Amino acid sequence: MFDVIVARKQNEAEGISSFELAREDGQPLPPFSAGAHIDVHLGNGLVRQYSLCNRASETHRYQIAVLHEPASRGGSRFLHESVEEGQRLRIGEPRNLFALDGGARHSLLFAGGIGITPILCMAERLQHVDASFELFYSARSRQRAAFVERLGEPAFAAQTRLCFDDETPLDIAAVLMNPESDTHLYVCGPAGYMAFVLDAARAAGWPESRLHREYFGADPEANRAGEAFEIEIASSGDVLLVAPDQSVIDVLYDVGIEVPVSCEQGICGTCLTRVLDGVPDHRDSFLTAEQRAANNQFTPCCSRANTPRLVLDL
Ligand code: FES
Repeated sequence: MFDVIVARKQNEAEGISSFELAREDGQPLPPFSAGAHIDVHLGNGLVRQYSLCNRASETHRYQIAVLHEPASRGGSRFLHESVEEGQRLRIGEPRNLFALDGGARHSLLFAGGIGITPILCMAERLQHVDASFELFYSARSRQRAAFVERLGEPAFAAQTRLCFDDETPLDIAAVLMNPESDTHLYVCGPAGYMAFVLDAARAAGWPESRLHREYFGADPEANRAGEAFEIEIASSGDVLLVAPDQSVIDVLYDVGIEVPVSCEQGICGTCLTRVLDGVPDHRDSFLTAEQRAANNQFTPCCSRANTPRLVLDL
């Protein structure tokens, strides 16, 4: 973790502000790759993940963009309402859980609303290395779409389709039909949009291995509570009860076992823990369908068990 200052705060669209973060002494920031995000420590105990949306070759700044969601868990409201230029913020080094696949001959980039942030960074990178790509950016209206000007520049305009609900919505089935074997798909946005794109891709025959996704928030409908179950700590043999209203992380914390966490919503993968026996009830948005089916790891911040006991590699 290290401190940066907010060098610039700027309105990008209706309800969306961008924040440019730099070192106070002007020194270069740790490098990052397209699709990376940073943890932002908001000083009130909250830690939130935001994708970097500036060019990955830049080292003098990180840029994030944040949607103002008054009903959010607090991160977006805090950044919009309480953080101003010149203010110091504590952030983590960039991490990338949504990287571009180096073997792709063509990439389809799908962004829904504020999901444009990592997708824009990916488009910048693909354009920079002269790689083939198309970008589909869906938003409710032009007024609510950030970075439209940047995407209208000659470097992007020919490969970019802007799809506004009130003008030209995205014809997803037409775009995804006849998937080529060396084309990869990347999608980021709200849960409903992600399901819309991923379900259409599966229906058109795309294999999971070429579907890459990053969620912005946990599914709001997801039920975090459930039945009680046991966890067994493999190294000690200790067996602990997880009550219906407790998370595995809570139970581990109570006995002094600290698994690193960040989002605590099943989005970031920070808490990923190996499962040696038993079947997890996966409630995260992080693991792919193939990884879930293997049942050898889970996210203890939100996931539970489908068997009476899980043996954890701790
Ligand atoms: Fe982010 Fe568990 S802390 S997935």
